[in-house]
Amino acid sequence: MRTIGLTFILTLVGVLVLHGQSSFMTSDSVAVFYPARFDAAQHLPSFAVERQLERAGDVPDTWSVAPVFTQTDSTSTVRIAIGEGVDLYGNGEVTGDLRRNNTETVLWNTDNYEYKKHEGKRLYQSHPWILGVRPDGTAFGVLADNSWKQEFDLHGGIAIKSYSAPFRVLVVDAPSPQRVMEKLGDLIGTIPMPPLWSLGYQQSRFSYYPADSVRYIAKEFRKRKIPADVLWMDIDYMDGYRIFTFDPEGFPDPKKLNKDLHALDFKSIYMIDPGVKVDSTYGIYQQGSRGNHWVLDADGEPFVGEVWPGDCVFPDYTRPETREWWSGLYPDFMDLGIDGVWNDMNEPAVFDRESFTIPENGLHRGGGALPASIHRRYHNVYGLLMVKASREGILSADPDKRPFVLSRANFLGGQRYAATWTGDNHSSWEYLKMSIPMSLNLSLSGQPFNGPDIGGFTKNSDAELLGHWMAMGAYFPFFRNHSSKNTTAQEPWAFGRKIEDVSRTAINRRYRLLPYLYTLFREAHETGAPIMKPTFFADIQDTSLRDQQETFLLGDHLLIVPRWAENVQLPKGNWTDIAFEKGDDGYQAKVKLRPGAIVPMTDKVFQSTEDYSNDRIVLLINPDDKGKARGHMYSDAGQGYGYQNGAYALNSFSAELTDKTLKVTVQLDWGVEPNHREYRIGYVKQGEIVYSEWTTGNEIILQL
Ligand code: GLC
Repeated sequence: MRTIGLTFILTLVGVLVLHGQSSFMTSDSVAVFYPARFDAAQHLPSFAVERQLERAGDVPDTWSVAPVFTQTDSTSTVRIAIGEGVDLYGNGEVTGDLRRNNTETVLWNTDNYEYKKHEGKRLYQSHPWILGVRPDGTAFGVLADNSWKQEFDLHGGIAIKSYSAPFRVLVVDAPSPQRVMEKLGDLIGTIPMPPLWSLGYQQSRFSYYPADSVRYIAKEFRKRKIPADVLWMDIDYMDGYRIFTFDPEGFPDPKKLNKDLHALDFKSIYMIDPGVKVDSTYGIYQQGSRGNHWVLDADGEPFVGEVWPGDCVFPDYTRPETREWWSGLYPDFMDLGIDGVWNDMNEPAVFDRESFTIPENGLHRGGGALPASIHRRYHNVYGLLMVKASREGILSADPDKRPFVLSRANFLGGQRYAATWTGDNHSSWEYLKMSIPMSLNLSLSGQPFNGPDIGGFTKNSDAELLGHWMAMGAYFPFFRNHSSKNTTAQEPWAFGRKIEDVSRTAINRRYRLLPYLYTLFREAHETGAPIMKPTFFADIQDTSLRDQQETFLLGDHLLIVPRWAENVQLPKGNWTDIAFEKGDDGYQAKVKLRPGAIVPMTDKVFQSTEDYSNDRIVLLINPDDKGKARGHMYSDAGQGYGYQNGAYALNSFSAELTDKTLKVTVQLDWGVEPNHREYRIGYVKQGEIVYSEWTTGNEIILQL
């Protein structure tokens, strides 16, 4: 380790400036900085960074992004100077603009109804990570490897104040923001491959009750030919909100319900919260109490706080025995034919406390590598530890199936275990618009699989709002319509024929784009690349794009321009509109194909991913000014782990445009091509798509 010269300066206010840190390179573009008084027991093992940080060399003198550590009795601060004109992003789930310069964010997972508490400056998740993009397009990332309560202040630079002992900081420096994101993926891991069905459209409500109303909704989707894959069971399916139980009146036979849903090609997802009802006659409470599984208050007694069921106790997921117990609750539950799990309220939310959570001096007992400590240390990772244990339990129930877990609370690195939605938003235009920068900053913080409640959660949606939200939501990685109790119905047909048609068209587009979307998920899984990307990723040197937040990229090839967007600056070049349908309903987003891109799309629409097939693929092509275009497609069984042993196919496509013809070559880079797969060219010219004939060969020609 290199020491950068030890200079302690004690100022009048008792602030210790510690230049005496040590640092090293852990790969060619990642430097690690340790404060002089680093106490590993206070911060390690890391929740974000899973791999061992090996020393690969000295930090070069030319390294420009370097933290300065200072300390008081109760806080530790890191300051990082940034150059002129640097644009900042990240910090995970945040309200406000895409560009984070001049913002403050408190990392303290908070149940934040309508994002109204604390001026929306602390939400359900914590991502101690900032991406900086310089005017020339080169970029850096700053990762505070710290789970304690902390604040990010991005006025004139980066300042991180933590209510803890000094913590280490990792800095990535790379030629582009895309490379920084890959390095982040390398450090914190990536999303697991999701089941294909979780990319489909999903319908939820707090709550569909009783079971027959779930059946009714499923049938309506099929009757109306609106594609959908998942129905969600919110808390009312439970018996008095006791987790892992079923309401004997409304949900007497969940196995039968799931079977009926499966017969209609629907998957079912059920909610499980962490709070366990204090009830001496309730099995889960009895087991947990016997196993000593609860978080303790400062006096060493089980902490009791109110959530939906009334008084609750909370599993202490820092204990390996507790995680094992929690995982062990899932196999019987999943055995009922449940397809996925929704872990909510896991900040954890507590209704009858002013802080809305467990007090900071609550006690976690830890175990294994995790030391015992106070809640202030483990609060931000409570959700992460919960979903890790949930996922492990679900996987053990059926090791051949890919688990799907959705979590409200999480922490940097938690994308390894669960997808996320952005909590209790409001059915209004303000929140619809806010959902783009929020999902983008989450995507730029290592969590690509995310999206808002489409249509808005609280209060009543209306026809216009729902129409536009469905038309835009179809391009978010997670696509679920959800709304609260006592609000007007929000299913695609709830506001009449027109919005039903708008919704169907938007959902059809999503299903047709699945070959492309699934390829993006594979890329996110492999490299950590975001799926939904900010517009400026299309041209990292064009600084006029840096604040674009009404438009976004889906992968690298498609630019989504919602119909309501007013302040739009397009990337340079001929991004051409894809005419998915004849006619225009006035709601569908403009989907623009990048010059030089080939996007694979299915020929048919499907009612669910159960009948998805990529046997007939349309290659949407927009040749660049040299007449060239490229693209690729990943495919596998959409379920299970065969892909880990090579059971997948990777195709690449290249196109060349001459005077008279557009010629596409299909190459199989890996796997087996279904021998009956047919391709056709869909040459995208402004306002229309010109098609070639179908062919099974690996050369497709369109005569112009
Ligand atoms: C929380 C969740 C919301 C859910 C409700 C009832 O508010 O954020 O999505 O519907 O709890 O479980």
